[in-house]
Amino acid sequence: MTERPYVLLSCAASIDGYIDDTTEERLLLSNDEDFDRVDEVRAGCDAILVGANTIRRDNPRLLVRSEERRKARVARGLPESPIKVTFTARGDLDPGAKFFAAGGVEKIVYCSSSAVDSCCERLGDVATVVDAGDPVDLDTMLADLAGRGVQRLMVEGGGTVHTQFLTAGLADELQLVIAPFFVGDSAAPRFVGTGQFPHHPGNRMTLEDVRPIGDVILARYLLTRS
Ligand SMILES: NC(=O)c1ccc[n+]([C@@H]2O[C@H](COP(=O)([O-])OP(=O)(O)OC[C@H]3O[C@@H](n4cnc5c(N)ncnc54)[C@H](OP(=O)(O)O)[C@@H]3O)[C@@H](O)[C@H]2O)c1
Repeated sequence: MTERPYVLLSCAASIDGYIDDTTEERLLLSNDEDFDRVDEVRAGCDAILVGANTIRRDNPRLLVRSEERRKARVARGLPESPIKVTFTARGDLDPGAKFFAAGGVEKIVYCSSSAVDSCCERLGDVATVVDAGDPVDLDTMLADLAGRGVQRLMVEGGGTVHTQFLTAGLADELQLVIAPFFVGDSAAPRFVGTGQFPHHPGNRMTLEDVRPIGDVILARYLLTRS
C-alpha cells in the first residue's frame, strides 16, 4: 500500500477551457463513445471523487454503467462500482442527491471539522462523514482513503477540486478531453482557477497519449509526483 492512492484527474472542456456554461441545464461536452471510455476508466478505479458543488449542480450518479464491467468487478471481488467520495466545507448536501441515493456502494464525505455535526445530522446514514480538518486537508483525505484500501482514485471535478489537486502536486495523471466548440462566456466555470501550479513553462507535463474519439480529442498527461 502506498501512502496515498494513484490520483487520476478526468475532465472535459470546451476549446476555450470551460467545463460548463451558465445555464441551468447540464452542458454535454463529450460524446457517447467518450462517455463509454470514461465508464471504463471508472470501472478500473477504487473510488471516484467530485466536489460538493458538482453534486449540487449536476446531480451525477457516478456509477459504472456497463453491466459487463460491473460483473467483471464483482468477479474480481470488488463492489459493482467504485466508492463515491466528496468533500465539503459547509456540509450542505442533500441526502436525496443521486450521489447518495444511487447504487449500493459506500459513500464517504470528507467534511471540515466545524460542519461535521450538522453534516452528519443532514445526511443520516446515507454516507460516512469523516472529520478532515478545517479546511479539509487533501493529504489527510488521501491518507484516509489509502487506509480504506483505495489504491486508484479518479477525480471527476469540478474546477475547484481540480485546481486544488493540481496546485498541491497531488495528481499523477490528467485525462483531458477537448470538445469541438466554444462556450465563450467568462462567467462559466473553467477547468482550473488561479493558482501556483507545479507544472508551468519550466516544468512541463509529459504527454503520454493523444487520440481522437469521434469529434473530441483525448490527451493523457503524466505528472511527476512532487
Ligand atoms: N466538464 C467536466 O468534466 C466537469 C466535471 C465535473 C464538474 N463540472 C462542472 O464544474 C462545476 C462545479 O465546479 P466548482 O468548482 O464550482 O465546484 P466543485 O469543484 O465541484 O466543488 C467545490 C466545492 O467543494 C468543496 N471543497 C472544495 N475544496 C474544499 C476544501 N479544501 N475543503 C472543504 N471543502 C472543499 C466546497 O464545498 P461546500 O461549498 O459544500 O463547502 C466547494 O464549494 C459545475 O458547473 C459542473 O457542471 C464539469
